[in-house]
Amino acid sequence: KVYNDYFYDEPVYDLHDGGYVPLKVPDVPEKPLTIPSVLKPDKVDGNDVWYTIRAQAGETQILPGAKTKTWGYNASLLGQTVVLKDGVHYHVHIVNELPEVTTLHWHGLNVPGPVTDGGPHAPIYPGESRDIDFTLNQPAQTDWIHPHPCPNTARQVWNGLAAAVVVTDDVESKLPFPRNYGVDDIPVILQDRSYHDNQLDYDADYDVDGTLGDTPLVNGTVNGVFKVTTQRIRLRILNGADRREYRLHFSDDHEFTQVGSDGGILPAPVKLTKLMLTCAERAEVIVDFGDHKPGDRVQLMSDDVPLMTFEIDDFEPDNTQLPDHLVDLADWEPTPGLPVEKTVMSGMDDEVRLDGKLFDMQRIDRKQKLGDVVDWDVTNTNDMGSGMIHPFHMHGCHFLVLSRNGKAPYPNEHGYKDVVGVNAGETVRIRVMFDVPGVFMYHCHILEHEDTGMMAQIEAYDPDHSQTFHLLSMDDV
Ligand code: C2O
Ligand code: CU
Ligand code: CU
Repeated sequence: KVYNDYFYDEPVYDLHDGGYVPLKVPDVPEKPLTIPSVLKPDKVDGNDVWYTIRAQAGETQILPGAKTKTWGYNASLLGQTVVLKDGVHYHVHIVNELPEVTTLHWHGLNVPGPVTDGGPHAPIYPGESRDIDFTLNQPAQTDWIHPHPCPNTARQVWNGLAAAVVVTDDVESKLPFPRNYGVDDIPVILQDRSYHDNQLDYDADYDVDGTLGDTPLVNGTVNGVFKVTTQRIRLRILNGADRREYRLHFSDDHEFTQVGSDGGILPAPVKLTKLMLTCAERAEVIVDFGDHKPGDRVQLMSDDVPLMTFEIDDFEPDNTQLPDHLVDLADWEPTPGLPVEKTVMSGMDDEVRLDGKLFDMQRIDRKQKLGDVVDWDVTNTNDMGSGMIHPFHMHGCHFLVLSRNGKAPYPNEHGYKDVVGVNAGETVRIRVMFDVPGVFMYHCHILEHEDTGMMAQIEAYDPDHSQTFHLLSMDDV
């Protein structure tokens, strides 16, 4: 079966919003799609690996003419891809070379909070650095790093801070997937920006309901072209936009197979011609260009605007078939006797709230015991006719999507996730388990909503090793 559906409720797509900024077809020459280089370790010693990540300011040739002032991680824009392996102990030296406080959040990594995780309680002041270390314990997946200082996350991401994180493990490495980075396995970081004389101006473009830009970028490239030199390619797609939803399809309606989502490889491949990603969601897809010949060009589109082009080159035939079953998910039975947690996303514009409140860095909003498996009902109370989709994200854990308004989740939501788009008027039931301790954020991943305060904190605790967490306040950051 091939699905030809975005699944979400059409009346609440972002394009119906009064402040919607449509993407335009960029009137600039094509250029090769930028493939971020892979971050090299400073040192490897047995099972220990050391990295340095520098948040830095620079200039990038994005449009013809003047370069754009941008921010990035070990790069002038976006950042080098961080490749991590399950089971390895990492030591990361994070340096802030920016003129303002930032943090480095590992979106999708199950690492302790609130400091290692890099949320608002882990500030790095300008000119200073922070050292963290963690042992990675999670399946192969595509994650990302981005800043998370409250309330400046949206602007810092807009300026360019975001990079792909590729987690590998011994299960995924045995599956017949393309995995030659930069050749047949590439990050596809989707963003939108507006330029003013080639410069960014966040304040000019700011929208409290989520800032949009008119220019589509993939990996920081406008009008990028990727040469396809293998029959099958694997795209690690990340919606890295502040607010925009991506409704992806190919110009020739080419079919593709989704094999992964936020939290790893799906239990079974899902064939699609359309894929919608809300903010911060990831999808790994495999595209088989076996029916194309050298010289063919296929565009990746969102709605009716091309984002980038795949140019088919010569390739060796590769008719590898994917197995019907990819990975096993852990059997999460809900811990008996626990009520369903209820959390509510409400409002639009500056009225957005999480559980009726605005974020407070010193308030722990709820607790969950490590290892407990708890069902949560995540409700978006927006009006079905005029509301919007709020993408709900949790730090420090992954969850399973059990149902949407009591009905089955979408066919490509059967793996672990850390973001789920919730339609207006909908309650999504998710199954949540924490296995690392800490105070963690959960929030709407429309970055301007997060910065407004549509965010709260949960303590994942170990009753046998109780910890007190030092929570900073807004005045500290
Ligand atoms: Cu992508 Cu609170 O994070
Ligand atoms: Cu996160
Ligand atoms: Cu929101």
